Amino acid sequence: MNKLLESILFLPTTLHMQKLHSHLAGKTVLITGASSGIGKEVAYLLADFECHLILVARRGHLLQSIKAEIEKQKAKVSIFQADLRAEDELTTFLSFLHNQGTLDIIINNAGLSIRRSIYESLERYHDFTRTMTINYFAPVRILLSTIPLLQKSKGQIINVSTINTKLAPVPYFAAYQSSKAAFDVWVRSVLPELRKNNIAITTVYLPLVRTPMIEPTPGYRNVPAMSAYQAAKLICKSIYTRRKKYQPWWLIFGQLASVFLTNLMDFSKKRKRNETN
Ligand SMILES: NC(=O)c1ccc[n+]([C@@H]2O[C@H](COP(=O)([O-])OP(=O)(O)OC[C@H]3O[C@@H](n4cnc5c(N)ncnc54)[C@H](OP(=O)(O)O)[C@@H]3O)[C@@H](O)[C@H]2O)c1
Repeated sequence: MNKLLESILFLPTTLHMQKLHSHLAGKTVLITGASSGIGKEVAYLLADFECHLILVARRGHLLQSIKAEIEKQKAKVSIFQADLRAEDELTTFLSFLHNQGTLDIIINNAGLSIRRSIYESLERYHDFTRTMTINYFAPVRILLSTIPLLQKSKGQIINVSTINTKLAPVPYFAAYQSSKAAFDVWVRSVLPELRKNNIAITTVYLPLVRTPMIEPTPGYRNVPAMSAYQAAKLICKSIYTRRKKYQPWWLIFGQLASVFLTNLMDFSKKRKRNETN
């Protein structure tokens, strides 16, 4: 049943290899959070093109083995082990990036999700600073530093976001949803200025994707989810379409339902209150 639903909800994506090749040849592509999940799949998908991949994440040993795999094909790979939440490590990483000379595409993918009731979070302010630092402050800092490089190369920023930023928020994910929403608004806010200067910006609003990120949530095990490979294909496709956004075809119905159900719930609560008064 799940397989059938997945094939309806997540329509197949065809990649035009020739177009991808012409947009990637000789280009430098940064993928943050490339050690697992979607970031790793994107790196493997780009392995067959003559480009320079820069992969960053905390788990250096995983980046090492991904580099070894990819270099059996065409891409050249540089890896950088860093915790992008640590100011000093991010500073060193940014110097490393500037020393590369050129930068054409940034895939902002590193991210952290936390599922926790607000009542279990009362002593855990750090959940909110952690998610905000990796999902919002780190990409903002990376982009503030690299926009001049992207302007020179008429480059592209691809933001890996979530459909949750477009729907009514769900309980237990306050830290994750607010940090992803913050960066989504940041991106949409700077988009017109950057586009005017020939920097393309694409936001990929993903549904649930089967990666290590969702493993700790038992409720997600038997619900339809996109594969990391399919998500990676959408990201790679945006390299040549340079579209403003990708979102699943059914998201608009989810948005309408969000507005309708929220108002319906408010209305029925109000009615109950009036009846009891
Ligand atoms: N899975 C989903 O359902 C889903 C849905 C919508 C959007 N997304 C978004 O997709 C992106 C990728 O997530 P995923 O599902 O592929 O999860 P994942 O497998 O957990 O990958 C997360 C990546 O981010 C890196 N990362 C996390 N914290 C970091 C830090 N402090 N410094 C540097 N790198 C860090 C991780 O590497 P290290 O641990 O090695 O540092 C890892 O490579 C995220 O932005 C997520 O919000 C996911």
